[in-house]
Amino acid sequence: MSKRIFTLIALLAIAASMMTGCQQKQTEIKIAILAPLSGAVPTFGESTRDGALLAIDEWNAKGGVLGLKIVPVVEDSQCSADPAVNAANKVIDVDKVHYIIGEVCSSASIPMSLIANEKHVVQISPTSTNAQVTLNADGSVKPYTFRACFIDPFQGTVGAKFALGNLGAKKAFILFDQGNDYVRGLAEAFEAAFTAGGGEIVGKETYVKEDTDFSAILAKVSEANPDMVYLPDYYNIINLVTAQAKEKGITAPFMGGDGWDSTDLDRAAADGGYFTNHYSEQDTRPIVQDWLQNYGEKYKKADGTAKVPDALATLAYDATNLMLAAIEKAGVDDPEKVKDALAGLTWEGVSGRITFDQNHNPIKAAVILQVKDGEIKYVATVAP
Ligand code: PHE
Repeated sequence: MSKRIFTLIALLAIAASMMTGCQQKQTEIKIAILAPLSGAVPTFGESTRDGALLAIDEWNAKGGVLGLKIVPVVEDSQCSADPAVNAANKVIDVDKVHYIIGEVCSSASIPMSLIANEKHVVQISPTSTNAQVTLNADGSVKPYTFRACFIDPFQGTVGAKFALGNLGAKKAFILFDQGNDYVRGLAEAFEAAFTAGGGEIVGKETYVKEDTDFSAILAKVSEANPDMVYLPDYYNIINLVTAQAKEKGITAPFMGGDGWDSTDLDRAAADGGYFTNHYSEQDTRPIVQDWLQNYGEKYKKADGTAKVPDALATLAYDATNLMLAAIEKAGVDDPEKVKDALAGLTWEGVSGRITFDQNHNPIKAAVILQVKDGEIKYVATVAP
């Protein structure tokens, strides 16, 4: 075959493949769900996945979004930086997603946000509360990153005011993991608000996430004899520390943040403790009651009874609805336009009405819950 004919055939082949490429009609739209399904806090991942999938099912039952079928892409991002970065790169580069729901944990969402912004993919973290999730180091907002929850400067302040006002605490002891962005940030916010309100921090001790024996730092708590102990970590750490505190005879109440929310929280060990959270299933608003009903119909416990959605499932549901509503409002599968639509959206979520401030943070109320007699009891709602 002469060189010329060969070139001609090659050109025709390229043109033909380009034409079929243009003719292929888009029928699907992918949404990635990146959550810790394995590792230290698997209930966070399961709840997040289940909440997001329920929202996608409901949209698909109504015809999808923009007439496209919504296809979830679920990846295990393990609540930590490296797996989260790998998962984000995989869904963007291999699955070609334009939209990410995730991560749960701030230490995973922060590095993930750098990738989303570099690659122009819209990210909504349902539950990451550290201020830096949506902000660059210079304080400017990350254009492609949003969240569906309040932030820790607010959550820590709510905790401190409750400790001062409702528990009548004057002396607090803080235990925290220096290496966890969420835990450190919340500890700092609590300390600032507690001292500003006239309280005194009588001790502050750190540990690392691999620790299992907390006797040395708990001995210091006993010695300082505080009115309460602030421990803003995830449930796996709460279970260990509160059990060991009870063994040591420490009676001062423990308090923490949303990280306590898990079906695997040891309610006996944490009995008498309080935590701030995003929602309570005892909320009587009809939207909450419908949500409980629908979630319980779809998801069952091993014994066949209905599962009750926690804050993670609820916020993942809200975050996914927000993303899909923004795509619908933008009218096109284009992250550039969707991020702008999202910034101006108002959404009536199960966890409350969501509108974004200039830092892509919703302004929302917090609830205070108490672990008491094997139950999680609603105590109060605190508006910003
Ligand atoms: N707020 C936590 C974080 O930023 C995550 C979390 C939210 C955990 C809600 C439990 C419940 O890391």
